[in-house]
Amino acid sequence: MALAGLFLISFLGVHLGINLLILKNDGREAFNIAAHFMVTNPVVQSMQWVLFGGFILHILLGAVLQIQNWMARPQRYKVEGFSHTSYFSKFMIHTGLIIFAFLILHLVNFFFKAKFGAMPEVMIGDHMYEDMGLLVIEKFSNLSYVILYIFWLLFLGFHLDHAFHSAMQSLGLNHSKYTPVFFGISRALAILIAGGFMIIPLVIYFS
Ligand code: HEM
Repeated sequence: MALAGLFLISFLGVHLGINLLILKNDGREAFNIAAHFMVTNPVVQSMQWVLFGGFILHILLGAVLQIQNWMARPQRYKVEGFSHTSYFSKFMIHTGLIIFAFLILHLVNFFFKAKFGAMPEVMIGDHMYEDMGLLVIEKFSNLSYVILYIFWLLFLGFHLDHAFHSAMQSLGLNHSKYTPVFFGISRALAILIAGGFMIIPLVIYFS
């Protein structure tokens, strides 16, 4: 579960890097070329199956772990004791399920549309490209979508706040000197990844 989670974090880093290209003032060229590379490169395409496998593995193992926890103590504690772990660690299953529900909507909006729908096209140099950027801009010109995405990304941030250091602990990397560093990295990843994604709908909507 920890390895699948770390793999998903690395996917988010790449996805964010490509998405931020849409904010370049170049008529969406860099973003559309990068998106085209991602959907046509055979190595990236085969990694997509690993990615979906990683999501499914992470979700299934997370659900099993949560059910085991509930069964280990069917009766809740009357008083919540002091815990050495982060605040959001208690809500990983909840934030995870919310992220998953929005992910389905996200895939319907973009991924399935690109795979099976009719896409607008644009000429860049002497090549025709699918104008994925236009699709993103159209979605985020709608305030309801902007609010929905900000809400989704907040939960992604809460989830990530516990993710990295928890993965390190699961991998046995628990040390009085390094554990606080892992906590710091988790918090930084949560802010950078969730905050980085949030910038995109906000800048598109308000510009
Ligand atoms: C502002 C935020 C985001 C934007 C603008 C965005 C945009 C996109 C676009 C345009 C695609 C389609 C790519 C293609 O098939 O050509 C896509 C696919 C995808 N997105 Fe996002 N995304 C955002 C946030 C996220 C987040 C937070 C997650 C995960 C929690 C995520 C997970 C995925 C997955 C799994 C795919 C399908 C795999 C792929 O095409 O690489 N996205 N996204």
